[in-house]
Amino acid sequence: MKRIVIFASGSGSNAENLIKFFQDSDHASVIQIFCNNPHAKVLDRAKRLGVSALSFNRVAFTKTDDVLDILKATEPDLIVLAGFLWKFPEHILKCFENKVINIHPALLPKYGGKGMYGMNVHNAIIQNNESETGITIHYVNENYDEGAIIFQVTCQVSKQDTAEDVAAKIHKLEMEYFPKVVEQLLNE
Ligand code: GAR
Repeated sequence: MKRIVIFASGSGSNAENLIKFFQDSDHASVIQIFCNNPHAKVLDRAKRLGVSALSFNRVAFTKTDDVLDILKATEPDLIVLAGFLWKFPEHILKCFENKVINIHPALLPKYGGKGMYGMNVHNAIIQNNESETGITIHYVNENYDEGAIIFQVTCQVSKQDTAEDVAAKIHKLEMEYFPKVVEQLLNE
């Protein structure tokens, strides 16, 4: 059985979707949620779905080996960032080369980088009159949103669309494709 761990910061709809998808799998399972916000909704979702979850602070993540040690003990085959908003520290990346992936709600390299998350991205798409957007799943390196791209899929943005409409389109793509891409990576 392949072991997936998820890092999330907020609502956790992607985390829930991944947990549910792999609950029906004989090959892989989500075994641990890591969260940097003790009040995040993702922690309630994990509890409801019976998946172990823990929260940590910035010192434990970036300055000490506390999070690294717990992560090592989980022996993950894949570390999935699903709406995780802190930069992933180099000392952890070094231990899990090519095992950390992220989902981004735009077509990287456009609309990436620090501060480009959630509605900020969709607002920028509308402000710039983009006619399409999409999702990117990519490996994580030491710079925000710059690792090698694994998968992208696009959707159209019409002139009438609001940022909320774009968010809904992106959410639909994430729900449909993210688990499948994770499954495929684990099978490689
Ligand atoms: C998702 O749309 C994800 O692509 C985005 O945050 C949302 C999290 O939603 N990630 C980023 O913007 C990363 N830069 P969720 O908490 O409901 O899964």
